[in-house]
Parts: sequence; structure tokens; C-alpha cells
Amino acid sequence: MLFVLGSLFSPISSISPILPISRLPFVSFVSLWFNSPTLKYQLLDLPHPITNHQFPMLKKFMAEKQWYETLYENYGQKYDNEVFTKGTLGECDFIEQELNFNKALRLLDVGCGTGRHAIELTQRGYNVVGIDLSETLINRARAKAEAAGLQIEFHQGDARALPFKTEFDAAIMLCEGGFSLMETDEMNFAILENVTRVLKPGSKFIFTALNGLFPLFHSVTEYLSNAAEEGNATQDQHSFDLMTFRDRSVMEIEDDNGKQVQLQCNERYYVPSEIIFMLRSLNYTQIDIFGAKLGAFSRENELRTDDMEMLVIAELCGN
Ligand SMILES: C[S@@+](CC[C@H](N)C(=O)[O-])C[C@H]1O[C@@H](n2cnc3c(N)ncnc32)[C@H](O)[C@@H]1O
Repeated sequence: MLFVLGSLFSPISSISPILPISRLPFVSFVSLWFNSPTLKYQLLDLPHPITNHQFPMLKKFMAEKQWYETLYENYGQKYDNEVFTKGTLGECDFIEQELNFNKALRLLDVGCGTGRHAIELTQRGYNVVGIDLSETLINRARAKAEAAGLQIEFHQGDARALPFKTEFDAAIMLCEGGFSLMETDEMNFAILENVTRVLKPGSKFIFTALNGLFPLFHSVTEYLSNAAEEGNATQDQHSFDLMTFRDRSVMEIEDDNGKQVQLQCNERYYVPSEIIFMLRSLNYTQIDIFGAKLGAFSRENELRTDDMEMLVIAELCGN
């Protein structure tokens, strides 16, 4: 439905040599620790990297509406009350510092949701373009910007096939703005690849991703049930797959019309070495990873196993 099929195929097919290599350390590391028949079965069952002759498989994924599409269809107002949206000011303070307060820069906000960072940064004098897969959230972002008397370019579109040229000086992708949510690792990588394509040499890319170290040491169920507030989405029945680092869960929300909706979620946690490997392969030279604290992003926060999300700051090779 929301995918731009043609332009998506070529970037994905071009990355196939990368992902099997990135999986290898995992496979040996995890199978040493957990040498069970189930895990061996899952190892055999791992999806293969997508190559040209496997497009039918990709099409199958793409034909099915994904949980994150259903979630954001009618959830704009409720979304703005979620706990994770409450750290916007502190997060923008950090972004400004990372950009050396250079207001001449043109920024892309990938998976911008209802535009909270794009709007705040525009208010502070930056030139920001926002893009999100969800038409509902983009419409809400546009309405919020208009109400604040701001002119911001908001696009409905897919981060796996960004409709831009090499035209941005920096990109942000916060709170799982697409990355980590995709149903295959190739699609998550396609997001990184696309963002990189639209960034000028030497640009900064700041994003957050689910921290794969967290579920090795903690219960995701406990964390999420403690973090939720009255009226927020809840997630339950988690099962974390150590072979794929994907957490499957059932999310319950009440949408903006008061309707109860249940969703089968699937989210990918990444360990820092995977992020570094992917970004290096995309020509980022400086890659720093920290713990992402809500509303308090900082280079002082060393990444720990207690951090549910990591904060990645990567600098693209200058020419
Ligand atoms: C948890 S929200 C985060 C939104 C925003 N960055 C924030 O911090 O409030 C994740 C967002 O990613 C968007 N998204 C998911 N997949 C996407 C894709 N392939 N391309 C663009 N946006 C996507 C969703 O529609 C949703 O708005």
C-alpha cells in the first residue's frame, strides 16, 4: 500500500553481500551459549538475504499491511500523549549542539511522526524537512506546524525509498523512526542506505535504535509495562528470538476514535557492533554510540545493558 515498489528493489538487492557476514558473529556467539535444538532449527530457518530471484518473497512481505502501518493509521492524538514523546526539548538541545548551532544547515527528519522534533527545530531557526510513512501522522504534523505559524515541508513517504537527491546536511531518525521496525533486516538496512544517499559528504546522521544488549540482561515485558502510563499503548506476550534479535509482542491500543486495536508487533534489536558494521559499509568514518536517555541525550551517557535504546551519531566521510 504505502511502499514505492520500483525504487525500493534496487537498493535492497545491492546489499545482499553485507548481511550474511554481519550475522556470522551472532550465530557462533549465540549458539555457543544456547545450544538447543530450537535454536538450531531457527538457524536453518533464517531468512536469506534478498537477491534478484527472491523478489516474490519480498513482494509477499510488502503485500501484507504491517503492524506499524495499522498502528499509526488512527493514532495521531494519542501518539502525542505517549511517554516517549515527552523528551523533545532536551533531544533538540543535543541535536543543536551536535550541529554546532549552525542554522544554515538543511536537516531531514526521517520517520518524523507528528513532527515534534521538526517543529521544535524549525522554531529554533533550522531548515527541516520531515518524512513519514503514515499519512495520518504527517497530516497531524502539518496541522501542528500551521497552528504554530510555521512553514515546514512534510512529506508522506517511505524511508526505504526516499524521494530526495543528495541535498541534506544532516539527518535525524529518532525513537525508531522506521529503523528497527521493518520486518526484514534488509529493509532496515535499506533505510540507512537511503538516508546516506541523500546526505552530503561530511554530514551527521543522528539516530536511535533498540539496544540489543538490553534483552540479553533484562525482561522487555517488565520494562515496557513499567514505562507505560494510563491511556498509553501496552505491549505484552513478548518473545525474544536470540537468533534474529527480534522481539515479537502483542500491542494493545485505544485509537483516536476510542476503538481497541490489537497488533502483532515485531521489532529488531541491534547490538552496537552491527550498527558500526553497517555504517562503516556505508562510508561513515566517525561512529559514536551512547545510551539514549529520554529527553537527555548526551555524549556523557556511556551505553549500558540497562539502556533500552542507543543513540548513534555518525559522520559521513567528507569527499
Ligand atoms: C515511534 S514513531 C517515532 C516518530 C518520531 N521520530 C518521534 O520521535 O516522535 C515511528 C515512526 O516511524 C514511521 N515509520 C515507520 N516505518 C517507516 C518507513 N519505512 N518510512 C518512514 N517512516 C516510517 C512511523 O509511521 C512512525 O511515525
